[in-house]
Amino acid sequence: MSKSDRNSSRKTLHGVAGKPGRSEAPKERIPDSIKDTSRNIYETWEEDGSAAIEFRRAYAKLSYEMKQGNKHCFLMTSAMAGEGKSTAAAMMAVTIAKYRNTKTLLMDADLRRPRVHEFFQMPARKGLADALLGDVDIIDTIKDTQFENLKVITCGKRIASPTSLLQADRIADILSELKFYFDTVIIDTTPVLPVSDAAQIAVETDGVIYVVMAGVTQREVVKRGYKILKDSNVDIVGVLVNNASEVLPYYYSYDYYDYKY
Ligand SMILES: Nc1ncnc2c1ncn2[C@@H]1O[C@H](COP(=O)(O)OP(=O)(O)OP(=O)(O)O)[C@@H](O)[C@H]1O
Ligand SMILES: [Mg+2]
Repeated sequence: MSKSDRNSSRKTLHGVAGKPGRSEAPKERIPDSIKDTSRNIYETWEEDGSAAIEFRRAYAKLSYEMKQGNKHCFLMTSAMAGEGKSTAAAMMAVTIAKYRNTKTLLMDADLRRPRVHEFFQMPARKGLADALLGDVDIIDTIKDTQFENLKVITCGKRIASPTSLLQADRIADILSELKFYFDTVIIDTTPVLPVSDAAQIAVETDGVIYVVMAGVTQREVVKRGYKILKDSNVDIVGVLVNNASEVLPYYYSYDYYDYKY
């Protein structure tokens, strides 16, 4: 491993998102050798594992943001597909439930490639889409998990046109209801470049945690996703770097996105 590979998380972020000198050739996303699609969160979550430690660190920074700005509802997105959003959203939600020790909700608002129900080994229905369709009250879609303080809302019915279903007024009503019951809400969504779903939902939240796959997603792509969110008047409260291809497969770090335009 070269010296630059061992750089701090901040430098890793800059290497991906802002500073010259790193190869911009397209690379494979998470290598199959470390990718494990079959594991659920109960198997993945190791109390003292490296990922849990990194997420605790990330949460420490996020909790400062929460206190300062009275923020409670966050959306996780990334520029492209497969950057580790759903995994990170689940890990972050578990971490918050554990360390904040208050009612926490993870909601799957990725109605295209939903993962939350698989992670938590529960049926996809009833869930967000059913509530958006008006078939059920959102409160009746809340499911228990094996983690204390953590509840989940799964994607619900698979539908043909998620973008129109996720119209701002409907999602705003649902979120305000959920904010009443939960201290923290983490929302897993689609990537920002291919579809507009994430930006649509993001404006109704207190901020976005932008997930970046370190060393994989091209700098221009990261910047474009960031700009789409900024242009939608979305507050980006932090960047979570998924360092999947480094030595520690579940190594995450968190930093504020300070790229200047
Ligand atoms: N740090 C990591 N180490 C190893 N595997 C990882 C890591 N992060 C994510 N993965 C794996 O990579 C795959 C994609 O991750 P995930 O589903 O979290 O990404 P995503 O950004 O939500 O994708 P999509 O855009 O399809 O919603 C999954 O199989 C997941 O288990
Ligand atoms: Mg996902």
